[in-house]
Amino acid sequence: MNIKQVEDYEAMSIAGAQLIMETVKRLENPVLGLATGSTPEGVYKQLIDAYQRQQVSFRETTTFNLDEYVGLAGEDPNSYRYFMDDKFFDHIDINKQQTFVPNGKADDLQQECEQYEQRLKDHQEIDLQVLGIGVNGHIGFNEPGTSFKTRTHVVNLAPSTREANARFFNSMQEVPEQAITMGIATIMKSEKIVLLVSGEKKARALDQLLHGDVTEEFPASILQTHDNVQIIADKAALSKVRV
Ligand code: PGA
Repeated sequence: MNIKQVEDYEAMSIAGAQLIMETVKRLENPVLGLATGSTPEGVYKQLIDAYQRQQVSFRETTTFNLDEYVGLAGEDPNSYRYFMDDKFFDHIDINKQQTFVPNGKADDLQQECEQYEQRLKDHQEIDLQVLGIGVNGHIGFNEPGTSFKTRTHVVNLAPSTREANARFFNSMQEVPEQAITMGIATIMKSEKIVLLVSGEKKARALDQLLHGDVTEEFPASILQTHDNVQIIADKAALSKVRV
């Protein structure tokens, strides 16, 4: 794993956006894996700016998002489909038909997971996957204890994850209890992974990722075994890293 240390959230967002633009410009039909949450939001803002300055086009880009809440439709402002449209896709020249987010309202969730995997295979997997890390080490919605062998699947969200995400909902009761997520094996098939980490609240998780054992109890630890991971972390996130 390669670590790039940057000053703050803004610098992390700029560095993340540069890596994505480099991939999009280099490949004829780039396939990006994307994430939601507070961490990548700044990256999407930077990419929108770059698009508006005509520095990049996403016309040939395909995207696959990591996850989606079960039970929320794309029109629901708390769904990850809505987040992606609102924060990124609606402001660039990407073909929306080429932006994939699991359907949390599918009648048959199992079938939805299988179709998502198949679609990924049809696109020859992901060239660059953007990841954040949960305070408990989750990647996507793969919570501690998830098998490293998992493909796209339905998960029960950990109480800590529901609490961390409750800020977006009116009440704790409204936070969905399940989600569809790309599995750990799915994420690991990506050609390259960029992990974005910002802020002191992620400092312990980052330290564990860098220095802990590879264990299913800390899902992100699997990244130690991937041969092309770029971590972009700000000073606050690196503040508890043992040297
Ligand atoms: P965050 O979430 O970017 O909102 O901190 C990251 C995650 O939980 O994976």
